[in-house]
Amino acid sequence: MKVGIPTETVAGERRVAMVPAVAPSLLSAGVELAVQSGAGARAGFPDGAYRDAGLSVAGSAAEALGAEVVVKVHGPSPEEARSLTEGSTLIALFSPGRSLDTVRVLAERKVTAFSLELLPRITRAQSMDALSSQATVAGYRGVLMAADRLPRFFPMFMTAAGTVPPAKVLILGAGVAGLQAVATARRLGAQVQAYDVRAAAKGEVESLGARFVDLRLETAEGTGGYAAEQAEEQQRRQRDALAPVVADVDVVVTTAQIPGRPAPVLLTGEMVAGMKPGSVVIDLASDTGGNVDISQPGQEIDHHGVTVVGVTLPASGLPTHASQLYACNIANLLGLMLADGKLAPDWDDEILATTCVTRDGDVPHEPTRLLLENPS
Ligand SMILES: NC(=O)c1ccc[n+]([C@@H]2O[C@H](COP(=O)([O-])OP(=O)(O)OC[C@H]3O[C@@H](n4cnc5c(N)ncnc54)[C@H](O)[C@@H]3O)[C@@H](O)[C@H]2O)c1
Repeated sequence: MKVGIPTETVAGERRVAMVPAVAPSLLSAGVELAVQSGAGARAGFPDGAYRDAGLSVAGSAAEALGAEVVVKVHGPSPEEARSLTEGSTLIALFSPGRSLDTVRVLAERKVTAFSLELLPRITRAQSMDALSSQATVAGYRGVLMAADRLPRFFPMFMTAAGTVPPAKVLILGAGVAGLQAVATARRLGAQVQAYDVRAAAKGEVESLGARFVDLRLETAEGTGGYAAEQAEEQQRRQRDALAPVVADVDVVVTTAQIPGRPAPVLLTGEMVAGMKPGSVVIDLASDTGGNVDISQPGQEIDHHGVTVVGVTLPASGLPTHASQLYACNIANLLGLMLADGKLAPDWDDEILATTCVTRDGDVPHEPTRLLLENPS
């Protein structure tokens, strides 16, 4: 059985779904791997490194996409989905609700498609949790981007030339990316505070040595450990309560997300304009609409002297390790389905059943099926 690894085609994407160091675990399970020539180049993995690890190098996208199993970072475009072999299997990290044209093609071609975004957050699935691995990269990188742009030190310095107080950093959203951002900013010596709508986040923020910002507002707990979307009035109260906290810090890194929904707006242009000149805002939610209403996806702007960066594909900015962690997630999910080098998925397994978007021409993922039946 051949597993194809095509080059990612989303503009600016540098990651690749399999790396040479992870491939041997799949090769020893009896599968062949074929990586498209150049697929790993932007992540620091040349074709030769794949050949040395025992993979073959496919000369074209069609060859990689035509394999029995295809692994990708992003879900395929409708055109790429048309190139998949009928009845093949696809594993990628995509939101099916925002890729309905692709899902239609996948169903037509009877592709068994798994989206890692749907993976249940259960202990057994942790080694396959690509949302977490990529969020870890994003949170780390967001803080480094802020430190690089801030015209001041992060740590406190006591020197013969005077004492420098530590930078004040506020992290909004304390899930996987936010907690990594807290830890990274702490390691750089900043004075860190964080806020989240989920009550459980308080203890997690404090366990990293940061201060939890208590806005004295109602929490918004959703299912599966995620936040629930708030009504516009609740969001407005949240922004009003956050405004004085934001005005007092040098850096804000936003990481707030609601699964399957646009990101909540936590900062307005007015709140940003209230920060000190030279301050930095890093919006890590740009790919889903942004947490800052004036941030521009993929751009760095100056808003009344404050640098605002709308970071797209945040994990792609650290492509070597983002790809390595992602490849491990893929190998673990694929490993769950393999028996004697062939695919033998156990459809009673919660992990596979929950993650499956299309199968045998059907769309077992109910929210996606409902969207396809009633496109609004
Ligand atoms: N058990 C596991 O295997 C496992 C693995 C990973 C994550 N988790 C848990 O899943 C949960 C979600 O993690 P995630 O990082 O994927 O979440 P996410 O990416 O969906 O959201 C990021 C954070 O934004 C927060 N948020 C949403 N709206 C907000 C608002 N208006 N204001 C402030 N914050 C807001 C969320 O509460 C979340 O903490 C967390 O509790 C995490 O600990 C569990």
